[in-house]
Amino acid sequence: MSQSIKLMVGNWKMNGGLAANASLVEPLLDGMSALSCRSALCVPAPYLAQMQHLLMGSSVDLGGQDVSAHDSGAYTGEVSADMLRDFSVRYVIVGHSERRQYHAESDATVAAKAQRALAAGITPIVCLGESLEEREAGQTEAVVKRQLAAVIHANGHCISEIVVAYEPVWAIGTGLTATPEQAQQVHAVLRSQLQAASTQATRISILYGGSMNATNAAELLAQPDVDGGLIGGASLKATDYLSILKAASR
Ligand code: 13P
Repeated sequence: MSQSIKLMVGNWKMNGGLAANASLVEPLLDGMSALSCRSALCVPAPYLAQMQHLLMGSSVDLGGQDVSAHDSGAYTGEVSADMLRDFSVRYVIVGHSERRQYHAESDATVAAKAQRALAAGITPIVCLGESLEEREAGQTEAVVKRQLAAVIHANGHCISEIVVAYEPVWAIGTGLTATPEQAQQVHAVLRSQLQAASTQATRISILYGGSMNATNAAELLAQPDVDGGLIGGASLKATDYLSILKAASR
């Protein structure tokens, strides 16, 4: 079983600016009023206040891109879950492959971040996915299961409150997309792992991310275990992003 209403999340990564954000969000909100999917935008931390203001009263939820694994204290540069909460943040991405790769985040760190988010009432969007080498070595299933197992282990019965995003590393920002069959195959594996961990697992949305665009979105989203998308590059252009959201609203 999967979620019938799709959850679509834009990940701006390290892009944007005060003026650019306002001119992106305005046409988005106009175009989105008629759409039936759930949606959120994960923005850089300095723009949370601006985006909280711009999204107020709309159906679009606000998200962060990372959260500290600690509650508070001497962790220069980090942002805590409670700080995100202060700006009405509903979702936070944890364990994005760019964090795992460039900031050496381990499975245990990602699990701790998910825990901090949940404790603050924020839904962690837990990202996982294999590298090209791992896929070619036939390790895809083992890798994603190991990454998810760490989060399940640390979060126990709260696991039904998370969102999972399958993002094959080789598909991120490369223009290479997993085929709908490849995505479905991994999503089904993740679904059964979640079901084994929680009787409430049907509530968990499993998103696909990696070069999702206006052309491939409908086919990916038609897969039975693809509950939505996590979109990078294509979420930075209002027309492209609206086309994807339209595909998700059918
Ligand atoms: P792209 O859509 O740019 O490939 O990025 C995907 C992603 O990493 C979303 O978190």
